[in-house]
Parts: sequence; C-alpha cells; structure tokens
Amino acid sequence: MSENEKLLRSSDDTRSEQSNDCEDNDSFQTQRRPKGFLSRNAVTLGLAASNILLLVTLVLTIFFWKPSQIERFVETYSPARESIDFMLKNEHATDHSVQSKYSGYPNDDNNKAWEDLIQPTFFGATEQEIMQAGDTVDDSVKLEDGGYVAALGVYHEVHCLRQLRLFLYSEHYYPNLTHDNILYLQGHLDHCLEALRMSVMCNADLSLYTFRWKAANDDRPYPKSNASRKCVNWDGVESWAMQRKVSLTPMLLRTTGEADRIHL
Ligand SMILES: *[C@@H]1O[C@H](CO)[C@@H](O)[C@H](O)[C@H]1NC(C)=O
Ligand SMILES: *[C@@H]1O[C@H](CO)[C@@H](O)[C@H](O)[C@H]1NC(C)=O
Repeated sequence: MSENEKLLRSSDDTRSEQSNDCEDNDSFQTQRRPKGFLSRNAVTLGLAASNILLLVTLVLTIFFWKPSQIERFVETYSPARESIDFMLKNEHATDHSVQSKYSGYPNDDNNKAWEDLIQPTFFGATEQEIMQAGDTVDDSVKLEDGGYVAALGVYHEVHCLRQLRLFLYSEHYYPNLTHDNILYLQGHLDHCLEALRMSVMCNADLSLYTFRWKAANDDRPYPKSNASRKCVNWDGVESWAMQRKVSLTPMLLRTTGEADRIHL
C-alpha cells in the first residue's frame, strides 16, 4: 500500500467511523483519532491546514469586514462629551394626569423651572473646540471676553420647546398679539418644529410602547411603556454647561470690533 493509499484508507476509515457514529447519534465522536502512526500524522497535518485556513480567514475578516454593528457605536466630537455619562431610565410621559415641574398651565414654579433650564444656553467655545467639531472660526461670532459664542444642540432644542410652550399659552405670555406678531411667531415656531423633528428622527427612540384599557367603557386605549432607554445623565450636561456658561444676552463683538449686548 502506497503512502497515499494509506492516507486515503485512513480517511475512509474515519468516514466509516463517522457514519457509524452518526447512527449512534453521537456526532462529537467523529473526531476520534485513527490508531496508526501514519494516520495520526495525517490528522495532525489536516488539523494544521485547517487551523491555518481558519487563521487566514480570521485575519482577512478583521481587515476587510465592515460590520454594521460598528455603526451602533458611532461617536461624534463634542466638547461636552468627555464629562457626560449615560444612564438607563424608564420614565415615559404616557400618563396625562402626571405633571412634571416643567408642565401644566403657567405658574411661578413651572416658569422658574424653564428659566433655570435655559440659564446655561450659551458658552464660550475655544478655537480648538470649534476646529475639532469640524467647523471654522472664520465667520464665528466672538465674545467680548474671549472665545466664540456657542451652544450645545440640546440647548437649541430646549429653547425651541420653551418658545412653543410660550405660544401654547399665548393668552398668558403674549396678550394683545397683532396679526403681524402672530405671523412672525408662526414663522419662528415652524422653524423650531423643524429643529425638533430633525432631532427626534435623528435620535429615534426605539422604546416599545403599547396600549391598555383603563376602564371597560373607554373610548380609546391609553399608551403605556415600561421600556428602559439610554439617556444622558442630564445633571452632567447641566453642570458642564453651568461651568462654561456665558450670559443669555452676552457681550458680542461685531465685525467692526464694536461690543454690544445682544439677545441671541
Ligand atoms: C392688552 O390690551 C389691554 C386692553 O386692550 C390692555 O389693558 C393691556 O394693558 C394690554 N396688555 C399688554 C401687555 O400690552
Ligand atoms: C417595569 O420594569 C422594571 C424593570 O425595568 C420591572 O422591575 C417592573 O416589574 C416592570 N413593571 C411592570 C408593571 O411590568
């Protein structure tokens, strides 16, 4: 019997063992080693070859595979990012009878909550922070005290929510609006809705919401959710913003170099 024939035979032996093993319903034993010295060598070679193949596949995979999972962890630069962490929350505003400190018909408490919330809207960004965010300082507005006037995106959204709230209760906040006032506010608030729509769709909350009946004669069911969702730790955002904040009406430098207190 030539060497090749022996190899062939040994693999035939293995195959017949395999089929027996399959009949025995014990697939783990298909790896059982043949007995002879040469056939053991053949198995060692085979294993080495398949290990090399596995290694090559692995290396190629690591280099060329662009898995979609990686996109789940995309991070973008923000000067605030480093100091802010995430947490799980399962608060959902599904119950209309539950008020937060921000909601409800205008009163001193909810007005103060909104005022406090917007205090750190603006901060002074450094040139380096602006460059790292992929922007340019060429046309950025300078603060009189140094740096460039800036805001985190979330504070633009908070501003928009607040403006919408003021308009929602316009009989309280804007008595005696003229037709022109209303047209102006509608234009501004439509833009605010756009900003919020983009952000909501960008951050697509994927929490599971369902519905429940509260009473047998309800006209329609009520939404509910007990889903956890990933949230930034707002206290972290706020303390970062408070440390960096400038006035809500900061002193800005005009292109002429003149300084002016401006309501942004
Ligand atoms: C709104 O108009 C009423 C009467 O026309 C007037 O008494 C009131 O002072 C006005 N309010 C404001 C904030 O201008
Ligand atoms: C809501 O979720 C929490 C944990 O996420 C769980 O402990 C609790 O039992 C859930 N409540 C209901 C009503 O399912």
